[in-house]
Amino acid sequence: MMTTHRPSIIPLRSLLALIAAAFLLSACEGESTESLPNTSASASSVNYTGPAPENDDVQAFKLAVWDNLATQDKCGACHNAGGQSPTFVNEQDINIAYAQARTVVNLDAPSQSEMVSKVAGGHNCWTSSTAACVDILTTYLTNWAGGAAGSVKTVELRAPTEKDPGATLTFPASSGEFESTVYPVLTTYCSDCHTENGQTPYIASSNGATAYEQAQSRINLETPSASRLVQRLRTDFHNCWDDDCDLSADTMQMAIEDFAGLQSPQTVDSDLVVSKALNLAEDGLLANSGGRYENNIIALYEFKAGEGQTAFDTSGVSPALDLTLSGNTEWVGGWGIALGGAYQNEQNFMVPAGKAQAPLQIARNYIPS
Ligand code: HEC
Ligand code: HEC
Repeated sequence: MMTTHRPSIIPLRSLLALIAAAFLLSACEGESTESLPNTSASASSVNYTGPAPENDDVQAFKLAVWDNLATQDKCGACHNAGGQSPTFVNEQDINIAYAQARTVVNLDAPSQSEMVSKVAGGHNCWTSSTAACVDILTTYLTNWAGGAAGSVKTVELRAPTEKDPGATLTFPASSGEFESTVYPVLTTYCSDCHTENGQTPYIASSNGATAYEQAQSRINLETPSASRLVQRLRTDFHNCWDDDCDLSADTMQMAIEDFAGLQSPQTVDSDLVVSKALNLAEDGLLANSGGRYENNIIALYEFKAGEGQTAFDTSGVSPALDLTLSGNTEWVGGWGIALGGAYQNEQNFMVPAGKAQAPLQIARNYIPS
């Protein structure tokens, strides 16, 4: 049995932070603030000297979009006057830039703009996270479309792509195939605890049918690696054997794959009248993405990057107050980070408490003088 120190975790889901002074999030009290190097790319602004904006909308476009994207580190390096079409950051004539931008935006649904989808597809994002670029671009376009003042974030509804329900794997009624594949692993390694009179779930019950019944909700036939029985070992380090959680998880996963391999996909009964199919990951909308007041914010963290050492500020307000993650930090599903306390890892190194901190030089811009 393997013991691993699991630090207590403070989940920060969709944290909306308003910052008045140097920013510091820390799992422990009394952590010191230290200056981190300024790692943001030089965002030297572009000085516009061309003809005046023809109307208010052009002016709004300039303030919300052009000023932000015309710099060399963003789109200004290519989509400039005489550069790559569309020249939406034309630095010689804002009215041309505006007309060109109109061809690649959808101001009714900013996130659906070609400008956004192009970058979402991997085109010249200026940060290490495409998700952050997508959000920031969407913010710029939303500000142009609606004006920034007093805005409430709204849920953008859109029709999902139509698809028919496909064939799925279902659990057989009889426990026989489970008993010849997954059950032996459970009885060998989990029966010290997970049997009647012991710990629920009774996945290692001496009665195969009971074990099957208790294990079903913890087995994912379509994606065996996503089974709770596998994740408990691989990510929770819960009672692995031979001191090797990866190997234990692989063994469990292979047993579930064997079990799944014995099942044939079931199509929907042709006598039934069925609707179209939806799936949560692709067609779902974040329920909490709307209704939030976002006026006058100076920093916004949505934690969508999901990897790396930076939590991007997607407020679109310059300079961006990106947070550098250090110590015991971890990305969690559904957009969030977990900051844990200091702990000693398996190699006997002290991992300091988790922190998400913006460089002091940048944070200083937001301290009223
Ligand atoms: C290094 C040069 C370069 C940079 C920087 C760059 N682009 Fe592009 N862009 C191109 C080229 C080349 C094309 C045409 C080929 C293609 O479609 O990929 C293009 C095409 C596009 C198109 C498609 C236009 C159409 O009508 O199909 C969009 C939209 C676009 N870029 C948006 C952006 C945005 C937004 C940025 C800044 C975040 C950006 N680009 C930065 C070179 C660049
Ligand atoms: C030393 C006793 C012990 C052993 C051995 C053990 N467990 Fe557990 N298990 C527990 C305890 C206690 C709980 C309830 C507390 C918790 O969730 O950690 C639990 C809960 C669970 C749960 C339900 C909670 C959840 O988060 O899904 C699953 C599934 C599980 N164990 C799987 C396994 C598997 C698979 C094995 C065999 C590889 C195993 N356990 C071996 C003690 C044990």
